[in-house]
Amino acid sequence: MVIISPSLLSCDFLNIEKEIKCFEGVKDFWFHLDIMDGHFVPNLTFGHPIVSLLSNKTSQRLDAHFMVTNPKFYIDTFKDYNIFNFTFHVEAGENILELIKEAKKFYPSVGLSLKPSTPLSAISDEMFKAIDLLLVMSVEPGFSGQSFHETTWERLSSVLEIQKRLNTNFMVQVDGGVSDKNAKKLIELGANNLVSGSYIFKHGPSKYLEMVESLR
Ligand code: DX5
Ligand code: ZN
Repeated sequence: MVIISPSLLSCDFLNIEKEIKCFEGVKDFWFHLDIMDGHFVPNLTFGHPIVSLLSNKTSQRLDAHFMVTNPKFYIDTFKDYNIFNFTFHVEAGENILELIKEAKKFYPSVGLSLKPSTPLSAISDEMFKAIDLLLVMSVEPGFSGQSFHETTWERLSSVLEIQKRLNTNFMVQVDGGVSDKNAKKLIELGANNLVSGSYIFKHGPSKYLEMVESLR
């Protein structure tokens, strides 16, 4: 089953508790948390207090996507919030393999992400073997509501080849501009975790579950 991960960046922040309650009990579901530092990307979102509150208010899995320059600090300081998947960017550091190993100590699943302009060769075979999830960005990280990059199709085909060559089966997550227009093809090309922000939240709470299911 494909996991759907609504990005809370697009939810109604002033009613965030009500917003997350709308999804209670949905199966194959993660909440995607976009955490930005205003340095790796030109935007700021939320940090420790909000993630801590969220972790107490939902039994759904938390999927944290760190768009930050210094992942080590976040590995260390977010470990008490019941985050299921911890993803950071390959562009963010030099000791990526060490960081993956460090994150594995605290988080059940560890992911690596790359921007649309970063070649897959930036991730070594050792890294591919060590991760639980690859987050393929289909927009420039930093903001929701952007258009899907068509280069993602080719990239997903290359990811399938890498998985075959290395005999690994990390989860493949796609993030950015995901909607009912591209979800089916993304799944056909091996994506099994779809992040979606503006598409899911644009019509208001009465439509959330319908929008989630329309992506599977
Ligand atoms: C962008 C974030 C995405 C974004 C997705 O930096 O990583 O998770 O919120 O939003 P949509 O689905 O609107 O592109
Ligand atoms: Zn994201």
